[in-house]
Amino acid sequence: MLGTTGSGKSTLLSLLPRFYDPSEGRVTLDGTDLRRLDLQTLRGNIGIVFQESFLFSNTVAENIAFGRPEATAQQVRRAAEIAQAHGFIANDLERGYDTLLTEGGGNLSGGQRQRIAIARALLTDPPLLLLDDPTAAIDPETEQEILGAMDRAMHGRTTFVVAHRMSTLRRADRIVVLQRGRVVQCGTHDELMAQEGMYKHAADVQAADDGSRRLLGMDVDGNRGGGGA
Ligand SMILES: Nc1ncnc2c1ncn2[C@@H]1O[C@H](COP(=O)(O)OP(=O)(O)O)[C@@H](O)[C@H]1O
Ligand SMILES: [Mg+2]
Repeated sequence: MLGTTGSGKSTLLSLLPRFYDPSEGRVTLDGTDLRRLDLQTLRGNIGIVFQESFLFSNTVAENIAFGRPEATAQQVRRAAEIAQAHGFIANDLERGYDTLLTEGGGNLSGGQRQRIAIARALLTDPPLLLLDDPTAAIDPETEQEILGAMDRAMHGRTTFVVAHRMSTLRRADRIVVLQRGRVVQCGTHDELMAQEGMYKHAADVQAADDGSRRLLGMDVDGNRGGGGA
């Protein structure tokens, strides 16, 4: 899903866990109106990663298991592995999963914070995953770190992802373009590239931008050439 700021992406995603209910129409899951499902069960089947994630001044393990204190150490580790967070937790943090984080996660990079958030969302292996532009607040240096984590996180579940990067968008089964609260385009990458519209425009702008980055010796994900993410 893509669209300019304020076009309604987060609002649309919020309908699934029923943070809002639609004022008209209905949202269905496998044909059932969400309002007929048990709210706890519905939300228990959805993992969510927001643009910016809150971390608490607790341990890494407690942050991953936030809201699910019954989670085992093994579940926490498994989620961290899929989110590609286990490596830095085990190797770079002084006390591993017992490392105390500062409020807001100031002692971690943006990419590390979001990977902890992805691990949190995956803890219960939810069949539905919502990724609301998780790279938005991330510096380009660490953005690459979480793209791989997002890839693995999406594997084997239905994922709704807000993204602006073509490499992420183009692989979606269905791409939805929002403008001022309305769906203006919907289709596969190839279908939308064959239309004159916002999607093709965004793709062309990014291709031109990536082209000039290459000329400057930067790779297309914003890292300086030769850096190796
Ligand atoms: N279809 C819609 N119906 C009602 N309100 C909407 C709709 N789309 C967007 N809004 C309102 O617009 C504002 C911005 O939407 P938001 O979902 O945060 O945008 P985005 O995530 O795309 O930046 C919110 O206050 C939201 O309530
Ligand atoms: Mg938003």
